Amino acid sequence: MPTSAESESIFLTGFMGSGKTTLGKLAAAQLELIFFDLDEEIELRTQQTLAEHFVHSEPYFREQEHRILLELLSETGEQPCLIALGGGTSIHSVNQPLIPPERIIFLDVPFPVLEQRLAACTHRPLAHDPRGVKRLHEQRIPLYSQAAITLALSAEDDLMRATDKLIVCLRELLWDMAWGIGCGGLCRVRWVGQSF
Ligand code: S3P
Repeated sequence: MPTSAESESIFLTGFMGSGKTTLGKLAAAQLELIFFDLDEEIELRTQQTLAEHFVHSEPYFREQEHRILLELLSETGEQPCLIALGGGTSIHSVNQPLIPPERIIFLDVPFPVLEQRLAACTHRPLAHDPRGVKRLHEQRIPLYSQAAITLALSAEDDLMRATDKLIVCLRELLWDMAWGIGCGGLCRVRWVGQSF
């Protein structure tokens, strides 16, 4: 089983609709990092859509999610990759030893923006009930916030600006990794040009 010390991957976390896949792909292409989207890998490797997994049950999906995350990390080994997690991956304790907080960037998008994006989406099994979505978001924010870097994005951040901001965060993490610097358990909230 790969350990956090062996994997050189950086992970994107955040709620459904926060842009992990879209921004991750664009930023990885610009930095010439190999990119994986965990949900896409699950669908590809199981030959089942996420909706089909959820028809079995959520625990069934979580088992597949964990198994494929393990598989992916053992295949990528020490190669630095960018991996967009599913919105629930980092929340589930079984995955936490595989995704150390010092390698995670949290895409923090205001709830009303997420709500609007999710209302227009039909393919996410957990996004169908607006009240459930709000509850889930409230439960998860404290956990997402344990990431090394919180990238606060607003409705004003268009695709290009959000990608540029993510690139700044990725460069910072890659720099830390190259020098063996962890975040010492401290969370940084980053906008471009500001670090707190
Ligand atoms: C989930 C988020 C989804 C997907 C699955 C469960 C969640 O990924 O993994 O439907 O628990 O939040 P996205 O965050 O990419 O939509």
